[in-house]
Amino acid sequence: MEVSININGQQVSRDVEPRMLLVHFIRETPGLTGTHWGCDTSNCGACVVLMDGKPVKSCTTLAVMCEGHEIRTVESLEVDGRLDPIQQGFHEMHALQCGFCTPGMLMTTRALLDENPNPTEEEIRTAISGGICRCTGYKNIVAAVKWAAEHESAGVRQEV
Ligand code: FES
Ligand code: FES
Repeated sequence: MEVSININGQQVSRDVEPRMLLVHFIRETPGLTGTHWGCDTSNCGACVVLMDGKPVKSCTTLAVMCEGHEIRTVESLEVDGRLDPIQQGFHEMHALQCGFCTPGMLMTTRALLDENPNPTEEEIRTAISGGICRCTGYKNIVAAVKWAAEHESAGVRQEV
């Protein structure tokens, strides 16, 4: 089937098998390998991207389901060499170690702050509950989201 998906503002078209998963379409067609493929069973959350602003697990979304929708991946966060506040928060608060879960965590929490700019700790923990991090114990991820929420209102974007 021919499928055409808007990924990070660019239309990407390809002939695919109907069973092709969005995570493979993203990684193989435009070559955006920032979206990680972990468990493939909808458990780990490493594959989370935004579909029309909402987090979805791209390992359990078919590419053909995304026709006509806008997909946003982790590569879209940094703009013109400046980090998104959520990226900066992860950096400031040491919210990653191996980094495998990080793309999914970043996109999940980006969506959270877009919808709720000042989340409570409980709301942050609920938002990230669909992701598994084997390194951090989540404490610093929560602190990073709080950091981003506090600094986002000031329009902070850090040059890289
Ligand atoms: S790879 Fe999608 S949830 Fe783990
Ligand atoms: S930083 Fe290693 S799994 Fe989260």
